[in-house]
Amino acid sequence: MNQPEKKDNPNKIRHLIGVMSGKGGVGKSTVTYLTALALKQKGYRVGILDADITGASIPRIMHLPKYEMKVCGDFICPVETESGLKVMSISFLVDNEEQPVIWLGPLLSKAIRQFWGDVLWGELDYLVIDMPPGTSDVAITVMQSFPLHGFIFVTTPQDLVSVVVARSMQMAERMKVPVLGLVENMSYFICPHCGEKTKFFGQDETEKLARQFGTELLAQIPTSVELARLPSQGLNLESKLTREVLDQLARATVQKLA
Ligand SMILES: Nc1ncnc2c1ncn2[C@@H]1O[C@H](COP(=O)(O)OP(=O)(O)OP(=O)(O)O)[C@@H](O)[C@H]1O
Ligand SMILES: [Mg+2]
Ligand SMILES: [Zn+2]
Repeated sequence: MNQPEKKDNPNKIRHLIGVMSGKGGVGKSTVTYLTALALKQKGYRVGILDADITGASIPRIMHLPKYEMKVCGDFICPVETESGLKVMSISFLVDNEEQPVIWLGPLLSKAIRQFWGDVLWGELDYLVIDMPPGTSDVAITVMQSFPLHGFIFVTTPQDLVSVVVARSMQMAERMKVPVLGLVENMSYFICPHCGEKTKFFGQDETEKLARQFGTELLAQIPTSVELARLPSQGLNLESKLTREVLDQLARATVQKLA
């Protein structure tokens, strides 16, 4: 018997953005979620692809409960949140979130390609991809198999971080993926008691990095108790800090891709 022909991929995605760093723990997943949410709030159709297969954290950040994957014809349906964000993560496909994904490079790369080709994203204005840390097989697969419009690079204002981020920005350039700009996370700290701003790193590392690559600083996000509690308590959409951060991210992203 002939296998039925797989239908053409019906996804129409206007802008495909990767959130990258090279460095671990600087806030890629947080920035991915905040950027997607910011764009959604502006009325765009938005999806999040969690490409961090071995360190998937988007479902936790977004408080998505264990999800029974649904099949739509020849495709897998992404999870759709109440606010209408479409999300796909390896966590949805394993029984237990804490179970490690122990796969070798080729399998990781295959999973990533399936997230692109076998998921029914439908029509989206933006698909935001949470990249794994480092410059692994998975990162390279994303760069090679997805028609990325560019990367947002997340950094923190520390010289040790900038060096690693610079390396990964060079890799993006070599792979011909444009650098859209930098988001500086943990830029400063706002005292929860008196509201004073402290720049504990105090240097202009991110400005220097932006100049070195001829790109710009898109947004600055403070270290805050509010954002630190995102995975446990969720986001307070009413707070001044949240509104300012979402506004910066939406405006910069829309403008860069216009
Ligand atoms: N601006 C911030 N203020 C306070 N805490 C933050 C902020 N940004 C991120 N965090 C916290 O720092 C930790 C790392 O953030 P996140 O998981 O987004 O980083 P990541 O770069 O995706 O990490 P990984 O490399 O492991 O994927 C998380 O616990 C997160 O809640
Ligand atoms: Mg992450
Ligand atoms: Zn204080």
